[in-house]
Amino acid sequence: MGISLGIVGAGQFAGHFAKLFKLHPEVENVFITDLLPERAQATTERYDLTGTMESFEAMLASDVDAVAIFTQRWTHGPLVLAALRAGKHVYSAVPMAISEEEIAAIIEAVRETKLTYMMGETSYYNPATVYARKQQAEGRFGRVFYTEGDYVHDMDLGFYSAYEYSGGEAWKSTASYPPMLYPTHSVGGVLGAIDAHAVSVSCIGVKDQRGDGVFDKDVSMFDNDFSNATALFEMNDGGAMRINEMRRVGYPSHIRESRFRFFGTEASFEQLAQTAVWQDKETVTDVSELIDTKPTLALDDPSLADVDPSLRDAFVSGMAPVHDGARLPREFLGAGNGHEGSHHFLVDDFVTAVATGSMPPVNAWTAARFTLPGIIAHQSALQRGERLDIPDHGDAPASL
Ligand SMILES: NC(=O)c1ccc[n+]([C@@H]2O[C@H](COP(=O)([O-])OP(=O)(O)OC[C@H]3O[C@@H](n4cnc5c(N)ncnc54)[C@H](O)[C@@H]3O)[C@@H](O)[C@H]2O)c1
Repeated sequence: MGISLGIVGAGQFAGHFAKLFKLHPEVENVFITDLLPERAQATTERYDLTGTMESFEAMLASDVDAVAIFTQRWTHGPLVLAALRAGKHVYSAVPMAISEEEIAAIIEAVRETKLTYMMGETSYYNPATVYARKQQAEGRFGRVFYTEGDYVHDMDLGFYSAYEYSGGEAWKSTASYPPMLYPTHSVGGVLGAIDAHAVSVSCIGVKDQRGDGVFDKDVSMFDNDFSNATALFEMNDGGAMRINEMRRVGYPSHIRESRFRFFGTEASFEQLAQTAVWQDKETVTDVSELIDTKPTLALDDPSLADVDPSLRDAFVSGMAPVHDGARLPREFLGAGNGHEGSHHFLVDDFVTAVATGSMPPVNAWTAARFTLPGIIAHQSALQRGERLDIPDHGDAPASL
């Protein structure tokens, strides 16, 4: 018997994952619930899910094995905790939570319940991060001593409409969500490749100047007027990491919204919107082709006849050549993907962890290291860049 899964929140993002959970061979049933029942109903019909449930509480009282949380970004902590305490394995969209206390409580609950917790960090499977992870594992950087991660997503490129859909009439109060409380796409893309974590931070917040009521302290439910923020982190291995979280920026986010740079003593890797290069002390190698995500073609698309057989899976699954699509269920072939080819891997990581009891790559301890640095960076920005220590919950145990 496969797993029974309940999705919480049938908004803009959940559908991409509902479809994949349903396709996974280890998943038997997929239910969904939303505060707005018509959204849950529409997603059920669109993706032919098992059915809707009346509420989050009804889902926890049901016999689903696992829940996948796709509610608004500041709401995850309490929902995740309630689900773990109700005996459910948990997949959570990013971020893990928005306070130190929520994160500590989730780690404690995972330790006590021995249930699977995974944060669905898309940057962990960003092709640049996958590429850098491989180079790092082979020791090709030498000592990595400086890294950069940017999440550059301008509000004008989709965020106004997304927050309006998400926040109803009071949407402006939610659209001011502090950039550093959504740090996982930048921090996670760096830390997903190297074996280090942040121990202290100094951050500068840039106050917004557009004057349209978004990022206005008088309107903001987060009392926030920073629309961009830049943080410099000290790492546990003595290195440094620079993170940018930008929401007002002249940059084509739709081409590539997360970008990374890694500098080692022997080699370096640098990525821009449409280019990526590997460099050692003598040469520059353009590796853009390796990390460019392919369009998702239908399995019977005639142009596939001309494609190198080793790249065929990448072409029918919206992945990059650097991705290891061969580890995924064949049922995913031809299914839409997203965020530079990451969605298929995230769904498979979670289902595999629940089905086998293994630790997912972005488990609670790793998720904390992707999220806490941003929470403390925001506090630093509020104190004009005061350098602050970052708490650490340690490495994930080998098993629970
Ligand atoms: N690259 C990425 O990893 C990525 C990209 C997009 C969104 N996300 C994350 O996905 C999550 C969802 O984003 P979205 O754009 O779909 O949001 P959304 O606002 O469109 O949808 C959220 C839905 O959750 C519902 N909801 C809220 N609380 C609920 C509850 N207690 N019970 C049942 N339903 C509830 C709301 O009614 C809404 O329909 C966010 O946390 C966001 O950060 C991640």
